Amino acid sequence: MSKTIIIGACGQIGTELVLELRRKYGNENVVAADVRTDCPEILSNGPYVKMDILDRESVRNYIIENNVKTVYLLAALLSATAEKNPDFAWRLNMEGLFTILDLAKEKYIDKIFWPSSIAVFGPSTPRINTPQCTVTEPTTIYGISKLAGERWCEYYNKNFGVDVRSIRYPGLISYTSLPGGGTTDYAVDIFYQAKVKGEYVSFLDKDSALPMMFMEDAIRGTIELMDAPSSSLKVHAAYNLSGCSFTPAQIAEEIKKHIPSFRISYAPDFRQAIADSWPGSIDDSAARGDWGWKEKFGLSEMVKVMLDNVNVELLKN
Ligand code: NAD
Ligand code: SER
Repeated sequence: MSKTIIIGACGQIGTELVLELRRKYGNENVVAADVRTDCPEILSNGPYVKMDILDRESVRNYIIENNVKTVYLLAALLSATAEKNPDFAWRLNMEGLFTILDLAKEKYIDKIFWPSSIAVFGPSTPRINTPQCTVTEPTTIYGISKLAGERWCEYYNKNFGVDVRSIRYPGLISYTSLPGGGTTDYAVDIFYQAKVKGEYVSFLDKDSALPMMFMEDAIRGTIELMDAPSSSLKVHAAYNLSGCSFTPAQIAEEIKKHIPSFRISYAPDFRQAIADSWPGSIDDSAARGDWGWKEKFGLSEMVKVMLDNVNVELLKN
């Protein structure tokens, strides 16, 4: 049987995506790959390979020799980390994509998933119900790399028939692993600090609305998009996808319903400017129409599941 690989498997999305794909295709058929050697224990139920996506030859050899036909390429620097190291962020976020797109162009790979982000939008984009096709003038290096990646994915699809699929994920909220350096990370941190300290200092201001999504919805949406017949997909760059939108003040109010003594204060830092350049909510009617996307988790459902499941022991690793 052909294999599926998730590159960047030890991160916030990868950890949960690997587990779900192993449930679907069998543990031995889904390879977790990451530059890290300290792969989370939870991924030890199947194959793991240490892989640097920037080592083009090694990646090519592994994929060709192991009959890997589906690639989920998740390795990247996220928005906040990328701003601190723009040269490397551009390199990491782009070079790996070309390695995988070229393998598909040469017919070694059948199907690719590569995630984009709401970061492709910028201050000149309509902020509310941001349309699928609209102004994209990102001001962060992360957004610039995601927008360029989208254009290259569409180019490889149209010119070389590469089957590459993508979603503009909103901020993702999960409890299995910690987030990796994004502007939306406050909406995960807040649950750990609510449990540890009963209070949280938000690095975004109280009325800073951003599009967000619970990880279970994001993983289901990703797999639904990958399973959709290619004839139904009209977007070959990346689909807008919406879960729920909220502000730091609104998530704090929801947490207070479970922990009445919880307190929040605000100390915006450099990430505020990034958040200000992004949409507040997303129009995802193209995804709904083309492949039947529908979210399950709203703010209140997500807050309850997070408070029930966040494990503060993760903070010690
Ligand atoms: P993360 O930072 O949690 O995980 C990224 C993983 O990639 C890490 O385990 C890291 O070790 C690995 N990695 C880094 N450099 C590598 C290299 N050279 N070779 C192999 N692996 C390497 O990120 P995430 O939140 O899981 O995001 C995954 C993808 O989804 C990224 O492309 C990101 O831009 C995109 N995305 C994430 C979100 C979100 O809210 N988490 C939102 C929009 C888009
Ligand atoms: N959650 C991501 C970030 O904040 C959005 O792509 O970087």
